Amino acid sequence: DARRKLIAGNWKMNGLAASAPEFVRVVGAYQGGLKADVDLMVFPPFTLLTSFATASRGAGVLVGGQDCHAKPAGAHTGDVSAEMIADAGGQAVIVGHSERRTDHGETDADVRAKAEAARRAGLVAVICVGETKDEREAGEARAVVSRQLAGSLPDDAAAAHVVVAYEPVWAIGTGLTPTAAEIAEMHGFIRSELAGRFGAEAADAIRILYGGSVKPDNAKEILATANVDGALVGGASLKADDFLAIAKAAG
Ligand code: G3H
Repeated sequence: DARRKLIAGNWKMNGLAASAPEFVRVVGAYQGGLKADVDLMVFPPFTLLTSFATASRGAGVLVGGQDCHAKPAGAHTGDVSAEMIADAGGQAVIVGHSERRTDHGETDADVRAKAEAARRAGLVAVICVGETKDEREAGEARAVVSRQLAGSLPDDAAAAHVVVAYEPVWAIGTGLTPTAAEIAEMHGFIRSELAGRFGAEAADAIRILYGGSVKPDNAKEILATANVDGALVGGASLKADDFLAIAKAAG
């Protein structure tokens, strides 16, 4: 398997300056040996991005933003561009998280424009997809994910600058997870959708993360599942011990 595992921590709207030592511990453990086995990314709130980028400089833990605007600059109060994330020392950005899609009405076209902005700024885009509980119960999970992939991924998606994150909305922050068989089924489906659009070789190299209630005690099973190339971790990424335990489960 040529795809190196990637564990990404999404801090969401959490973290003050006083939380920085948690991140510093992650950086220390990464340099202390984890680096040999796994890639790590951490997505703090924008207020902490510069300090995290400074703390991880040269250590190999990548940092990034949780969203970006599609344009490089302009009159968009409160927004942050991909270029600004790069300028602050970031290497990546999450786009299309379900919380953005829900809270801010982001469409697949918006997400795709943001992913293209990430490419323009030299950032890796972690592009999120996933069905709601109602959609799964209606038997529409594959159709929803297929539509989101088709609409949200740029035409030039490739492993060097795109990561896909499958996050079933009903598993986010709930303690519920799909079974390993259900995760394998959806990740295999996503891989085949990528192959259909980008060709088998490109699809084989793109990493597909699972997200939704990943914790130290379920990480090993989830990360050992076919076509799971890592995890996008929310709540459990806030504590260095939990995040590092998940990262170790990937190694
Ligand atoms: O981006 C992360 C996901 O939304 C997962 O969050 O691990 O708190 O369920 P969670």
